[in-house]
Amino acid sequence: MRDTDPSGDLPLILLEWYDVHARAMPWRVPPAARVAGVRPDPYRIWLSEVMLQQTTVATVRDYFQRFTARWPTVADLAAAADADVMGEWAGLGYYARARNLLKCARAVMADHDGRFPADHAALLKLPGIGPYTAAAVSSIAFDLPFTVLDGNVERVMARLYDIHTPLPAAKPDLMARAEALTPTTRPGDYAQAVMDLGATICTPKSPACGICPWRDPCLARRNGTA
Ligand code: ADE
Repeated sequence: MRDTDPSGDLPLILLEWYDVHARAMPWRVPPAARVAGVRPDPYRIWLSEVMLQQTTVATVRDYFQRFTARWPTVADLAAAADADVMGEWAGLGYYARARNLLKCARAVMADHDGRFPADHAALLKLPGIGPYTAAAVSSIAFDLPFTVLDGNVERVMARLYDIHTPLPAAKPDLMARAEALTPTTRPGDYAQAVMDLGATICTPKSPACGICPWRDPCLARRNGTA
């Protein structure tokens, strides 16, 4: 799998880029605090990932700030009135997500002593948590080596390995490539780094290859197909 990465340096190169260029987001731990060992709050990571499904980062920011101001912990959210949560959710769409959000918060209180489990299989059993969210919370919140594959990551992998198979047929191959690259050191930062790379540099149209930390190993760039 590492045909463009014989020395295994790709993840490290991206982490060094992320240390400088990570986007500031209200659920992320800022670089200085990260270096000092501060870990992200699993509740905030879970909430942001549920909100980010089918919604842009720009839209989610305000909703996230309002939610966490009103319900700063999973215990606060679990104790909220259903109608209040639905009211704050209005505009994010897909109300099944909001109902599952409440169910999940209450299950964390009832079954996990109010703490999100640092365990991928246990996360998958919670209401509304599917493979994507379980991988995102496992890696970003708990720094476990799980691979997050969203549309941004798919595009980055497709270019890095110059894969032209259309989706969804390409998914297993893209996932295998993404998994092979996922490092065991800082997998959470790495997951967010690939997403940021896809959102800011390896964009769908006119990618900024000149400033990409992966420009040298990128096969699509080498072959002129990016
Ligand atoms: N999209 C979904 N989750 C994200 C995250 N944690 N960072 C950047 N983009 C994302």
